Amino acid sequence: MQLIDGKAVAAQIKEEIAAEVEALKASGGKVPHLAAVLVGHDGGSETYVANKVKACEQVGFKSSLIRYENDVTEEDLLACVDRLNSDKDIDGFIVQLPLPTHISETKVTEAIDYRKDVDGFHPVNVGRMSLGMPCFLSATPSGIVELLKRYNIETKGKHCVVLGRSNIVGKPVSMLMLQKANPGDSTVTICHSRTNNIKEITLQADIIIAALGVPEFLKSDMVKEGAVVIDVGTTRVPNQTSKSGFKLTGDVMFDEVAPKCSYITPVPGGVGPMTIVSLLKNTLLAAKKEVYN
Ligand code: GUN
Repeated sequence: MQLIDGKAVAAQIKEEIAAEVEALKASGGKVPHLAAVLVGHDGGSETYVANKVKACEQVGFKSSLIRYENDVTEEDLLACVDRLNSDKDIDGFIVQLPLPTHISETKVTEAIDYRKDVDGFHPVNVGRMSLGMPCFLSATPSGIVELLKRYNIETKGKHCVVLGRSNIVGKPVSMLMLQKANPGDSTVTICHSRTNNIKEITLQADIIIAALGVPEFLKSDMVKEGAVVIDVGTTRVPNQTSKSGFKLTGDVMFDEVAPKCSYITPVPGGVGPMTIVSLLKNTLLAAKKEVYN
């Protein structure tokens, strides 16, 4: 069994990005600028956004954090999106999800100019990704594929079972694994909360991508010997012994599943660190106008 070290790969890619930023600066190019909009004070969102801002500093990007309280109106948030759309200095921006229930996430996502949508959530980017066209790939699917690539994991002709059908992970990662590409060329099955015979299906999988958000859902009796297991789960499970009061828990029962795997990602330190790197990659592409003019 080999552990897929997302933290180490992410650190290496950050160095590659930092070197590109240095080269850009040296040639008089624009320093990439990412803005993040954070509504409210959800603990998870606070941490994710703080990590994104920190990652920008590490690679030499400019970053801006725009904060709103939970009671911000949809109108005010949409006006903020409009301002960021037309701000020439900002190459890309994200609105951290989830948003309070009185605000439509769909409306906000659609209001973002797809040329600045470095999260890759806008329908134009999702559609172009599905068609195999140049676009901003969404962070988690792109991070997963990058890990498979850097570890030279064969995906061609393999049966990839994706657990979860979310718009930000399950659906897009399924499309990427299906594409005529490397990584890609897999036979893909998507399972979700209404699938009847999940175990029967996961037992046939060469690659399992677990993105359900159900802590320790995948048990060892659901996994074939030699499978590759990618754990996307990041549930904060209360834990008195840790300083933060919670333990970040994946969708895989790691201790019992790991011995059966050829490769497996840990939580934390697997897919998580890769998602921020994907966001940085998109922001760099946006600044260099390499996807859209
Ligand atoms: N919430 C959970 N993951 C993400 C992400 O990748 N981007 C944004 N904007 N919100 C999220």
